[in-house]
Amino acid sequence: MTISEDIIENIRLSNNIESVIKEYLPDIKRIGRNWKACCPFHDEKTPSFLVSPEKGIFKCFGCNVGGDIFKFVMLADNISWYESVKKLAKRANIEIKEIRRQDVIKVSEKTRIFDILESSAMFYYKCLLKSSYAEKARKYLGERGVIRETIDKFRLGYAPKGGILKFALKKGHKVEDLLKAGVITKTEKGNFFEYMSERVVFPIFDVQGRVIAFGGRTIFNHDPKYLNTPETVVYFKSSNLYGMYQTLSTIRKERRIIVLEGYMDVVISQQFGVAGAVATLGTAFNQIHAKLILRYSDSVTLLFDSDEAGKVATQKSLEILVENAVECNVSTLPKHVDADEYINKYGKENFLDLLKNSSESPINFMIKLYSDLFSRSEKLTPEKKAKIVSYLLNFIARSPNLILQREWMKNVAQYMDVNEEIIWSEFKRKHELNSENKNYSQYHNAMVPLHITKDRRFSMSLEESLLSIILNNRSYIGKLDCDCFENVKCKEVFDLVGSGLSDVEILNALSEEYKSWFLELILNVVEYSNVGEAIDTILKDIGTGKLKRKRQQLEKEILLMSEGKKEKNERILYEYKKLTSLLKGSGK
Ligand code: UTP
Ligand code: MN
Repeated sequence: MTISEDIIENIRLSNNIESVIKEYLPDIKRIGRNWKACCPFHDEKTPSFLVSPEKGIFKCFGCNVGGDIFKFVMLADNISWYESVKKLAKRANIEIKEIRRQDVIKVSEKTRIFDILESSAMFYYKCLLKSSYAEKARKYLGERGVIRETIDKFRLGYAPKGGILKFALKKGHKVEDLLKAGVITKTEKGNFFEYMSERVVFPIFDVQGRVIAFGGRTIFNHDPKYLNTPETVVYFKSSNLYGMYQTLSTIRKERRIIVLEGYMDVVISQQFGVAGAVATLGTAFNQIHAKLILRYSDSVTLLFDSDEAGKVATQKSLEILVENAVECNVSTLPKHVDADEYINKYGKENFLDLLKNSSESPINFMIKLYSDLFSRSEKLTPEKKAKIVSYLLNFIARSPNLILQREWMKNVAQYMDVNEEIIWSEFKRKHELNSENKNYSQYHNAMVPLHITKDRRFSMSLEESLLSIILNNRSYIGKLDCDCFENVKCKEVFDLVGSGLSDVEILNALSEEYKSWFLELILNVVEYSNVGEAIDTILKDIGTGKLKRKRQQLEKEILLMSEGKKEKNERILYEYKKLTSLLKGSGK
């Protein structure tokens, strides 16, 4: 059963977001064009929870939750999206006419895929609980210490051989949709292959609680040990973390995340009440993970295996976290023990003690890593020492935080027994401050309202500032054209603005990873005395940035020419001179 789009829009329009939220938060106060209260989703004393009646959205600048009216009711009542629609329909006296699936001519492809994933997850789950084929799976989970509540919480399942295809076809799903949902694939010979077969199934949820993929562990020693369903239109490995949905409410309160290595580690940690336990999905930790984490949490603990692969994974993850200014540290498990085994054996308190006692700062982890790598049982020659320091400085340069950088250099100086001033000048020599990519927050902070400056993470690039102004002053859209934006996110939103979508429509059209960012943009209402002038200033700065990048490119080419590695080209020299004088003219 499903509800048509126009009924949903009707329900949205018939429920004022501010009056609905006021029923939950009687103390909410009107401030200018917005309403403000202490956030109901995390503990706080000064209000950072904002409701914009104009835009029909809410957003907390403390814990980053946000969305439309349905999202609010979902979170506040802890109910599904579907239930929140029903509840608000009732409030506005709107009758929901449900349409039977087969009567809907065009249910969007995504809806069909979500449908398949959801019913497949239920199928696997029921098999695990009831089917006689699942005897071995039940025993396996029992042996690994998984209890019934945990099976329910993670909706673990079992995939019997040949099960899902039969089930899904009987339910009326089409083969082509099953392929798109990634539950099956076609082999070269033209047979169907079920990804989950004779495996314990770990459904992967997005942060909204929708099933988006599956990971399966063999219980018959088949290869590979773990098999995941492929990426699809609803599943991107890099923008999801396993276990995130299940621990979201605790993360919001404690604002702390522990990144573990595997599914079972997450399941067992959470079963024992370790808050914030998540894992990447068989892929390296990346930028998007870091952004996802920043939305909910202030700090990250990495806990990977203590073997070589684990160390490399830790290093890669640290680099990304440090670049994104996420506070992080590394803890270490004893050799040859996985997190799940450790907790099962020693319990939660000992596990938390282990996390605390083995905790190292990123720089200390890196110092040890490189020292081991370069001077394994050999003498530390001056050349090796220089090399280690040089690698460490590269790592330090990733941090955008000058204070951290300075502190970490002190650590390097001390540990490597090199004078601190020398480290500092070597760093300056190697990593000149790159003012090109400097953040735009300086210019912007002078104008943003207080509630926003309080959020330490809120800072915008030039393009984001421009987009934010346009979102809030749409009549100025004619001043821009589509190549104003190089950033893909900005470009995407700008296109949607151009096609006349409202803020809420844009919000719903954007993928999950962009939503919170977009909310920040639209809630960043800055009152400019002269909007046109503000836009011009930013456009000019963007232009200058482009020219500078162009000039850098030319510089490189000229260098190649002067080294004889490239044929001399008068046009490039001419362009370079022209650009330089242009930039001089604009005072840069
Ligand atoms: P491990 O091989 O360390 O597995 O892989 P594990 O979690 O300890 O597994 P158990 O304890 O034997 O059940 C760690 C993670 O790497 C991914 C999975 O996400 C797994 O949880 N992985 C591993 C795969 O994607 N495919 C594989 O074949 C193996
Ligand atoms: Mn293991």
